[in-house]
Amino acid sequence: DKDGHKHFMAKEIAEQPMAIDRTLHAYLSETDDITLPDELDFTKIDRLTMVACGTGYYACMVGKYWFEQIAKMPVEVDVASEFRYREPPVSDRTLALFASQSGETADTLAALRYMTGKADQIVGLVNVSESSIARESDVVLPLYAGPEISVASTKAFTCQLTILLIMALQAAQQRGIALPEGLPSDLRAIPGLIHQTLMLEDEITATSRELATARDIIFLGRGHLYPLALEGALKLKELSYIHAEGYASGELKHGPIALIEDTVPVVVLAPRDVLFEKTISNMQEVMARGGRVVLITDAEGARISGEGTSEVITMPQVPNALAPILYAIPAQLLAYHTAVAKGTDVDQPRNLAKSVTVE
Ligand code: F6R
Repeated sequence: DKDGHKHFMAKEIAEQPMAIDRTLHAYLSETDDITLPDELDFTKIDRLTMVACGTGYYACMVGKYWFEQIAKMPVEVDVASEFRYREPPVSDRTLALFASQSGETADTLAALRYMTGKADQIVGLVNVSESSIARESDVVLPLYAGPEISVASTKAFTCQLTILLIMALQAAQQRGIALPEGLPSDLRAIPGLIHQTLMLEDEITATSRELATARDIIFLGRGHLYPLALEGALKLKELSYIHAEGYASGELKHGPIALIEDTVPVVVLAPRDVLFEKTISNMQEVMARGGRVVLITDAEGARISGEGTSEVITMPQVPNALAPILYAIPAQLLAYHTAVAKGTDVDQPRNLAKSVTVE
């Protein structure tokens, strides 16, 4: 039941404050102590390998930034279809993590089986608790997102991000590294911040109507928002069938800038942070070539980005480490409303299946 929404995807986007609340309830105590299972021991490993497909892979990519910065741990991230056939050497001091909404993705399951007996521990980050990946993991971390019906993943992604951040904090704690100020308690603000972001829906819908006429769209992001640029592009292409590519902002001048013209909108995900100035200079390069920029930033970012941006979507202020979770919302809404404007089948995009059980 769509609960009054036009599509399951709209319902699932709107459910995210609640879904993340449930996830926080499962993995943080009332006094903000981390309550991940005790078996999850980051002291006996010296590397983390994360493997997934599609949106789950982008969640793991964000996780890499967090684990490196917060827990100072070496991290490898790969798509399952590559990882399984590369047959990489694995040290027994590796923690292997597999992220999958369905828990049934064939390539991810095969990668898990490859790691079984080689890695110290197999951790499954799954939404479906009675799935194959859950059954074959040593430690199962349910997402608590609730059933996800829409083929395009939304709330499973933000719940995966939430757990990955809590895991990175746990790893830091166990390895004697001080936690970044404000964490984990700042995580409590996320449901409310998502709620505020959802209020920007009318504005994002207006932008989406313009995007709907484009043939190609570029998404840019830097640091832990680079994977969000990839996720924004994936969501947009799978739902609206518009060709979209995500790039690390710094890669723009190494090729994709050749595509820039006034018919190719560029969506820039850039909260005001230490990398902001660099991304703004990438944005100015786009504008100097006649490109149309949609800047998704916060009030401070909007203020200093100056004139010339075709459109600014002003997000609530968010603690830096949490930005990837919050910026998932405008990425999802842009894809959703662009698809609605084009009249495509939002919940069941052509050629796609919710659970990819064949490789
Ligand atoms: C994108 C999407 C897919 C899935 C991918 C992995 O919106 O839904 O890219 O993320 O097929 O699926 P799971 O997470 O079930 O392993």
